[in-house]
Amino acid sequence: MTPEELRSQVATIKWHHSIDLGHGIVTQGEDNSAKKLERLQLPASFAGKSVLDIGAWDGFFSFEAERRGAKRVLATDSFVWRGQVEWADKRGFDLSKRALGSSVEEMEIDVLDLSPEKVGTFDVVFFLGVLYHMKHPLLSLEKVAGVTRDFLVLETAVDMLRYKRPAMAYYAGDEVGRDSTNWCGPNPAAVIAMLRTVGFRRVEIVGGLRSPLFRLAKGAYYWQKHRHQFWGTVRTDRIVVHAWK
Ligand SMILES: C[S@@+](CC[C@H](N)C(=O)[O-])C[C@H]1O[C@@H](n2cnc3c(N)ncnc32)[C@H](O)[C@@H]1O
Repeated sequence: MTPEELRSQVATIKWHHSIDLGHGIVTQGEDNSAKKLERLQLPASFAGKSVLDIGAWDGFFSFEAERRGAKRVLATDSFVWRGQVEWADKRGFDLSKRALGSSVEEMEIDVLDLSPEKVGTFDVVFFLGVLYHMKHPLLSLEKVAGVTRDFLVLETAVDMLRYKRPAMAYYAGDEVGRDSTNWCGPNPAAVIAMLRTVGFRRVEIVGGLRSPLFRLAKGAYYWQKHRHQFWGTVRTDRIVVHAWK
């Protein structure tokens, strides 16, 4: 594929991730993937490790694990990859994989179907931006723990921030981000407690809550750009957690 062909194919896709495909071509995803990557505080090297990326979408984090030397990477997804919605599908992943000459493996599988029998177990598991899409968050984390041998990197939206005790919001509709695929907003204490419940012995928040001023600015930005509910954005935030078995 020539750079011109790649550029024109890239232009036909609605991207989630911002991926550098070489030749000066960077996909224009809504996600600030480089900034998110920084916040994840991943190890510089995954040499010798197997990595599972759950909910990979366009695959930015799968390709990054491969770039950092992982001996095997499996990217999985279900909702977006099934192409059931008109705003997203798997074409971004497929094109990026081809353009990058990547050996990342792929499997369409729901979080709740993950098991050692179906996918095996992995040294490192990414569960990024998926927990709040789960109708059954604790069961999902049990499934994630079941395929994690050592180290989990979890990134999630959080809610109920004024409670110190574990608490979780339930989203019956589209009250957060006008997105009816958001189901739950645990607070940081609930995320930690659930991870301990499913068998992680050490759990650390490495990307914590931002200042109220940051959240107000975020609320204004998303209201202006997408008409997302202002207070729904302001009262929520995102955290990054590292957890070890
Ligand atoms: C907000 S995106 C996060 C994408 C990427 N991990 C990131 O952090 O940028 C959520 C992803 O989870 C996937 N997803 C949602 N529900 C799922 C489920 N039940 N099983 C597997 N993947 C799911 C979606 O298809 C989507 O790709």
